[in-house]
Amino acid sequence: MADHAYVTLATNDSYAKGALVLGSSLQKNTSKKLVVLITPQVSESMRRVLDKVYDVVRVVDVLDSEDSAHLALMERPELGVTLTKLHCWTLTEYTKCVFMDADTVVLQNIDDLFEREELSAAPDPGWPDCFNSGVFVYRPSIETHNQLLQLATDQGSFDGGDQGLLNSFFSTWATKDIHKHLPFIYNLSSISIYSYLPAFKAFGADAKVVHFLGKVKPWNYTYDGKTRTVKGDAHDQILTHPEFLNLWWDIYTSRILPLLTEHGVVKDVATGLKALSGLVCSLAYSCRFCKEEEVTEAVSQMSIGAAEAAPPPPPSVSSEERRERWEQGQVDYMGADSYENIKKKLDAYLQ
Ligand code: UDP
Ligand code: GLC
Ligand code: MN
Repeated sequence: MADHAYVTLATNDSYAKGALVLGSSLQKNTSKKLVVLITPQVSESMRRVLDKVYDVVRVVDVLDSEDSAHLALMERPELGVTLTKLHCWTLTEYTKCVFMDADTVVLQNIDDLFEREELSAAPDPGWPDCFNSGVFVYRPSIETHNQLLQLATDQGSFDGGDQGLLNSFFSTWATKDIHKHLPFIYNLSSISIYSYLPAFKAFGADAKVVHFLGKVKPWNYTYDGKTRTVKGDAHDQILTHPEFLNLWWDIYTSRILPLLTEHGVVKDVATGLKALSGLVCSLAYSCRFCKEEEVTEAVSQMSIGAAEAAPPPPPSVSSEERRERWEQGQVDYMGADSYENIKKKLDAYLQ
């Protein structure tokens, strides 16, 4: 259906990296239209790359709640700009859309979402009577768009971002119609992988969308070009189950980095990995799901090494040794542990 589209948002080049991985994962799993909303802060060269992955790149104005009080409660001061998402209701060339955060990745075809009605979404892991606005089904409408803007002006958002506002506007979501509750596998937040491990082992194999909810995003992690492994601090619980993070990085390194190089966003793959490593991200690590109070970590410094020349094919290793390496997080992206193989391994692990 030409009048259906997946929509995402990126207000800067960092989230644009997420949007590119999301778009690439959608290309593998749907023939629906792909639309990305961007704001003027996204660089020209990044726009050219987005044009390669998305059918429509639409420039919109930033809408920022500037509600520092509520954003502070959520410990996410940077999320005032998420009100920019509301522009998605102006895409009236489509009759129905699925909005997806730029920090999500699609693992299977989810076109059945277009059979759902507005406003369908999955429960939020932090407060299940609220829906998480990282994945939702909606019907573009100028009238709805104006009503949302009016509510934002009159009342603001209880979390300072779009999720608080949307839950207030679609206030009957929790009680009125269970068909508007998407199964959690359509918006599986990576936090829930370790916060309820038995459920992840029982149902994780059915995951359709993974959502890297929280302050630290996949693109903030270090990536060791030599060993092709994602690294982080021992306290970072997502690294106890890095499979989905590795999937993200597999798509990024195999499909997106070459595009960024081709379009001059990075000079060449080696520089690209250096640029990524230059992404020294010093975070006050506290998000609404993080038990730690304040952990400051500099997530940076990738070792580049073999990225200059194509690394020699990894020596064939026994399956026991590969499993041992896998469990230590040593994954061979381009070879035996490519996206498809990681997915197979994930399925086997979760069975
Ligand atoms: N976003 C953006 N720029 C920002 C912050 C957020 O474009 O500076 C968009 C992006 O699509 C992102 C969504 O708003 O995925 C929601 O933000 P985020 O995913 O960081 O919130 P979380 O899901 O972690 O609560
Ligand atoms: C939630 C959602 C995100 C939304 C943010 C701000 O955590 O994951 O999509 O933008 O809160 O409301
Ligand atoms: Mn998100």
